Amino acid sequence: MFHKLDFNAGWVAVGALLFFLVGATLTTILPQMSEASWTTPLEGSRAYSEQELRGKAIYQREGCWYCHTQQIRTLEADTKRYGWRGVDAPISLPGEYVRDAPHVLGTRRAGPDLARVGGKYDKSWHKTHFNNPRDLVPGSVMPPFPWIVTDNGGQDLKNLIAYIQTLGRTRDWRPDDDYEE
Ligand code: HEC
Repeated sequence: MFHKLDFNAGWVAVGALLFFLVGATLTTILPQMSEASWTTPLEGSRAYSEQELRGKAIYQREGCWYCHTQQIRTLEADTKRYGWRGVDAPISLPGEYVRDAPHVLGTRRAGPDLARVGGKYDKSWHKTHFNNPRDLVPGSVMPPFPWIVTDNGGQDLKNLIAYIQTLGRTRDWRPDDDYEE
């Protein structure tokens, strides 16, 4: 019988489809149904403001997510590296992404993870950094984005920074808020 299956293109296609459906159900459909935290926004999180959404659109348009992830993994290296003044960065939870449509988790870590970067730097740091990262970080491979600083009379810059400052803030983990503005 199995020999027949192997040599019949129709059955091979049916078998492949069946395996695909089992995989898809187990990895994408069942978890959403059985785990509420995947579909419920994290407690304390709020919807993005209009300005933050415009900033997120710039983040997507400029492809920041080609180089930057937004996920603190369950690794000590991540929690330490993205921590702040001796406080470890909290590991990312599914509920933090429910309001992100589309999410910008990213896959390549060419640059640092940005999941907890909100509140790390102030406006003028970001402005200088977007204009030319090497002015602040010698040897940085992040490309300059001078148009973000000047386009729309500086409004694009304000929107993008507003979005960046939301990243990771729902967790209220930073020991200080020095760089809120
Ligand atoms: C080609 C890859 C690349 C792209 C594209 C890129 N970055 Fe970066 N980014 C980096 C690297 C590498 C660093 C680390 C060196 C530095 O700070 O300049 C960095 C650093 C940063 C930091 C500081 C992170 C920290 O914790 O110190 C921020 C914020 C940032 N990038 C935001 C952005 C945004 C927003 C965009 C899109 C407009 C963007 N990046 C596009 C590679 C990239």
